[in-house]
Amino acid sequence: MRVGIGILGGGTVGGALAHRLLTEGEAVTSKTGLELEVRKIAVRDLAKGRPYPFPPDLLTDSPADVVNDPAVQLVVELMGGLEPAADLVMQAIEAGKPVVTANKELVAIRGDELIKKAEERGVSLLFEAAVGGAIPIIRPLSASLAGERISEVIGIVNGTTNFILTQMCESGARYEEALAEAQSLGYAEADPSADVSGSDAASKAAILASLAFGTWIASDRVHREGIDQLQPEDIAFAADLGYLPKLLAIASESEAGIGVRVHTTLIPTDHPLASVRGSQNAVYVKGPAVDELLFAGPGAGGDPTATAVLGDIIEAARELLAGAQVPPRVRFGSGRIRDFSDIDTSWYLRLEVVDEPGVLAQIATTIGANRVSIESMVQIGRGETATLLFITHPSPESDHQAAIVALRQLEVVRQVAAAMRVLTV
Ligand code: NAP
Ligand code: HSE
Repeated sequence: MRVGIGILGGGTVGGALAHRLLTEGEAVTSKTGLELEVRKIAVRDLAKGRPYPFPPDLLTDSPADVVNDPAVQLVVELMGGLEPAADLVMQAIEAGKPVVTANKELVAIRGDELIKKAEERGVSLLFEAAVGGAIPIIRPLSASLAGERISEVIGIVNGTTNFILTQMCESGARYEEALAEAQSLGYAEADPSADVSGSDAASKAAILASLAFGTWIASDRVHREGIDQLQPEDIAFAADLGYLPKLLAIASESEAGIGVRVHTTLIPTDHPLASVRGSQNAVYVKGPAVDELLFAGPGAGGDPTATAVLGDIIEAARELLAGAQVPPRVRFGSGRIRDFSDIDTSWYLRLEVVDEPGVLAQIATTIGANRVSIESMVQIGRGETATLLFITHPSPESDHQAAIVALRQLEVVRQVAAAMRVLTV
């Protein structure tokens, strides 16, 4: 049973996928009975040197030729970015060709529309590799767990930032050194600003939350902050308090609605997500019947991601060969999406203060006046100034923001030197 595959993009993931299909196709055939034949690969620059040289007759610099080639029955989009990827995927679906993509930006921004179009045409649109690289998480959320009332999804979904934070915590590497290493290992996007600003994780958070809660959450509804504010001294102070920093995508649903956010978060060192190191990703799912589930593994890199893409290709090829109208995998309702300012958060605050009698009382009064309650406080150093570390109890984000503004106005506070959210469990 032969299926003609067209690949849009022959870079980190597309290159690894094409190489696998061209050199290990027989192994796939013996396991699945499918002969997945690469018929075309689109790249931007035909003259570029590549780690896996492709047969020249397969290469084209015209992606539309891949989609329109009658020998291509299934299209794999691995170009990245919004355009022309969105246009090409739409054209393929309209032509009745199943599509597999790893493009989280495309799915997070245009997914609603593309999923509807695929349903209308009765073809598959699969995107397992768009979140968590090799980790199966899209299929579990949209199929295996479709009958569960999921309450929370917490993910480490960006390998680059997890790698950087691990290097900073474990070997004391500077941010710039760790980022350069992540880029050389192929984890970071060509422009790493999407990784370090939290925007890559926000796209993934929007996809996870939409599937978990059955409400379409556009990625611009996801509050996002990156890792660039993190200071080495806070990594050390947090470690003394029993915490370490992770860039988390946190999505939860309660009677108040759905909240989705991405920010640097301190988590207890004995939390299951604390052991997720380097470029590894993990997604923690909570629900009343299943209690807690943890999905973990390589979240980036050409080969691991190609495995997830290949899994989708195999599923889509089977559906194609079955010849039936593919039924919808997901439907979206209209749940209420909460403003970030309403969501309860806890904080770690580091204040540099004047070390005089009555200072602590003023600070505690200011925090309390903004309806924030202190869980613990540590003073470090004595002299003209002292460092105070606070951990607060959960209360609305807006109250914490108001407390921080008020603290900055106190004469005894030289500086609110750091403010970071803490995971509330
Ligand atoms: P990449 O290395 O930059 O590769 C992109 C490929 O697309 C290149 O071969 C490029 O051609 C080609 N291309 C781009 N624009 C084109 C155009 N207009 N016409 C023809 N070809 C074009 O990207 P990647 O890392 O493989 O990522 C691909 C997708 O997978 C992205 O959506 C990314 O977010 C997603 N993803 C990546 C990873 C990862 O670890 N890298 C993990 C999960 C998901 P040239 O080679 O000639 O430049
Ligand atoms: N740049 C992404 C990461 C690749 O670091 O996780 C996977 O989407």
